[in-house]
This record gives sequence, C-alpha cells and structure tokens, in this order.
Amino acid sequence: MASFVINGGRRLSGSLVAQGSKNSALPILAATYLVSGKSVIHNCPRLSDVESTIKILENLGCKIERRGTDLVIDSSSAFGFEIPEDLMREMRSSVIFLGAILAKTGRAVISTPGGCEIGLRPIDLHLFAMRKLGVTIREEHGRLECSVNKRLKGTKITLTFPSVGATENAILASSVSEGTTTIINAAREPEIIDLCNFLNKCGAKIHGGGESIIVIEGVKKLTATEHSVICDRIAAATYLFAGALTGGDISVKNTVPAHLGGILPILEETGCEVSVRCNEIRLKAPLKLNRIDKLITQPYPGFPTDAQAPIMTLATVARGTSVIVENIFESRFKHVPELLRMGARIRTEGRVAVVDGVERLYGASVVSPDLRGGSALVLAGLTAIGVTEVSGIKHIDRGYEEFEKNLCMLNADIVRTKKSYGNTKEK
Ligand code: UD1
Repeated sequence: MASFVINGGRRLSGSLVAQGSKNSALPILAATYLVSGKSVIHNCPRLSDVESTIKILENLGCKIERRGTDLVIDSSSAFGFEIPEDLMREMRSSVIFLGAILAKTGRAVISTPGGCEIGLRPIDLHLFAMRKLGVTIREEHGRLECSVNKRLKGTKITLTFPSVGATENAILASSVSEGTTTIINAAREPEIIDLCNFLNKCGAKIHGGGESIIVIEGVKKLTATEHSVICDRIAAATYLFAGALTGGDISVKNTVPAHLGGILPILEETGCEVSVRCNEIRLKAPLKLNRIDKLITQPYPGFPTDAQAPIMTLATVARGTSVIVENIFESRFKHVPELLRMGARIRTEGRVAVVDGVERLYGASVVSPDLRGGSALVLAGLTAIGVTEVSGIKHIDRGYEEFEKNLCMLNADIVRTKKSYGNTKEK
C-alpha cells in the first residue's frame, strides 16, 4: 500500500499553479456523453476519480484520448445505458451520469452508490428530480432501472436541500427535454456554473446557473464543443493552508479568488495576511496562528465541507480553542482519531469538534480515512516534529494532482513510497 513519508518542520514558500477542478471535470465529462460529436475538455486534472469517469465513458461506448491535461471525448457512436456495479462503486459521484444517460437514450440501469467514508450519501433528491421529469424508476436490491416514455418533460423541481449532484443531474437531464424546467433551491457552487457554461456552449438554454433558481428551456440536441475546466478551489485552499501551518509565504496562481470567498476570511482570522491579485492569491503566515472562533460548513458561498478537515489541522496548533461544526455530511470527522495520534487535542460531539491548540504535533504513522481527511494528515505531517507516514493515500489521489510534487516545489520534505494511482494511456 502506497504512503507519503513526511519530514516535518520546514517552512513552505514559493508559488504554484492551481490544478483543474475535480468537481467541475466530473459532471462536465458526464455531459460529454450527452452531446453529439467530439468534445475537447482542457485542464482536466490527472486524478483517479477522473480515470474512473473515463472508464464509465468508455463503458458507455465513448472513445477517449488524453493529451496531457486535455481530454478528447468522442461520443458519436456511444449509446450505452448501463453502468456496471463495480464502476459505480469505484466512484460514488458516478450517479451524475444518470441525467445524461436518460436524456440521451431514454433509459438507464445503474446501481445505488450506497454509503461511503463521509456519510450515507443517499440519492433520493436525484431520483426525485428524475421522477419529476417523467422518469419511471424501479428499485430492486440496489439496482435502479429507469425509463422514459418518449421524451423527458420540463417541470418544476423544488429541492429540499441544495444538493450539488442532484442539481447537476437535473440540469443534465432537462437540458435535452421537451418544455421548460425550473429548479428551485438549486446548488450555487462555481462548479454548477462551469457545467452550465459548457452545456450552453453546446447549444443548451440554461439561465441562472450559480443562482438558487435555474431555468432550463429544453432543446432537442446538443453539439460537442471545446471547454476549459475552472481551477480547483479546494486544492488551492489546501496549499494555502499548508503555507499557513508552516509560517510560510506562498502564492497560488491561476485561481479564481472569489471562489474562495468563504475560506479567505477564516485564514485572515488565524492571523495570516492574504492578498489577492487578479487570478492569484498570496498568503503570508505568522509564526503562531490564532484560533478560529466558530467555523460552520455550509453550501456555497459558505465555508465548504471539503475544506473542513484540512483547516482543522490549522486549529490543532493555533493559540486557543477553535470550534468547527460540520453541517453537510454526517461522518466527516474520521481524521480526528489520526490527528489525536499526532498529539492534537480534539473532542467531538455529533457534528461539533472542539479543538484545543497545542504547541506542536509529533510525527506518527497514520491512515488516510478519506480524500480530505487524508490531506489534513499530510498537512499535519508538514508541521509536526519528526517523521509522519500517511498510508491509504489512494484516497488523496482521488482529488490532488501530484500532491507531493507540488508540496516539494514549495520546500516540503515529502516522498511517495509507491505509486498507487491509475493512468490512462496517452496517445
Ligand atoms: C459534491 C462534491 C463534494 C462536496 C459536496 C458538498 C462532487 C463530485 N462532489 O458532492 O466534494 O463535498 O458536493 O459540497 O461535486 N443528499 C441527500 N440526498 C441526495 C443528495 C444529497 O440527502 O439525493 C445530502 C448528502 O447526504 C449530504 C448533502 O445532501 O449530506 C450534500 O450532498 P451533495 O451536495 O449532493 O454532495 P455531492 O453532490 O454528493
């Protein structure tokens, strides 16, 4: 099993370019199945989740070429409608293919993704949206057989929670449908806007992406185009946190600072100096961080749940007591027992974590529990005294492109003991 070995205590400095967004790339790649012709998607990060998405596209009949971070997806002769269970299990967000498959073929067979490391992850809102659009769904032993009588029909879809995935599925399905669909209480994440921008370039008529009400006038057909994925705000934030933790001075380039609007004020609260210039964020950290008064994860534009675990590492060595409330997923504190092994002082009660800052963390052998929990442990290793080994890094490879190389570029001492991520053949 591959692991990262980190020699802690080095101050990070320098600059790096933010990777393409995982959470934008995945739904946009699902959308390329729906459009006719050859899509060219730039800035697709090299991540195992992207590899899993490519496998699903190939399974559905698409032809794919990778040229560096560009992917060319030819869906002209792809008409598959079934995603095998092993591929569904490989990546829980594979459910975002549902809307695209139904809009293209009128039927879909998938399995329920089930629970995962960070929570139950039900898909009731996705299925609610599909049913509203006229889909008949038969659920049996974790298998979902979905079919449409003629075409999907525009409707009003009111989501009880602004689920990112359910909003994306509703957008994908209704963009090729009959009539107009209104999504009320839609998710407002930047990745939703990116998906809408891609689909609109393909001929869709989507209004209000990024707002809580989205109106989609269904069209008959979408035509493939070229698109560049936005940068990854969570990866960008993680590198800023690494700078903050090590008393560093780092710049993240090629980012959209506004997308980190919920995060940057918290970094300032810890005493970091944050400056923003066009598409670059620079962070200068003090020697000792201040506590975070109360941080609550929320849908965008609030503080993102994906940055909760890595920012908790900052609180472990800050001056005083910080309170962190996880509002989005029910099991997202699995990094806590591992941080305790490194000398952190954290108490959790349900969705609340109370973190008493300590003077130093100490190197230990820890196991990455999930993607963002894993990045929290790597950050802990960067600031700890001695050597930290983080195993289970296949989780980290799902979301961070060349994590250790980027950290080394910023002066960290981190090595990968064995390569674990998949790779699509370059052509
Ligand atoms: C996406 C992101 C993930 C991020 C999350 C919240 C991708 C690929 N992943 O995940 O990184 O952490 O948004 O910002 O974009 N829920 C239901 N029923 C549903 C759907 C969701 O109850 O049908 C609940 C979930 O269990 C969770 C909450 O809604 O508690 C938010 O989930 P959602 O916004 O759907 O997250 P994902 O789209 O899965």
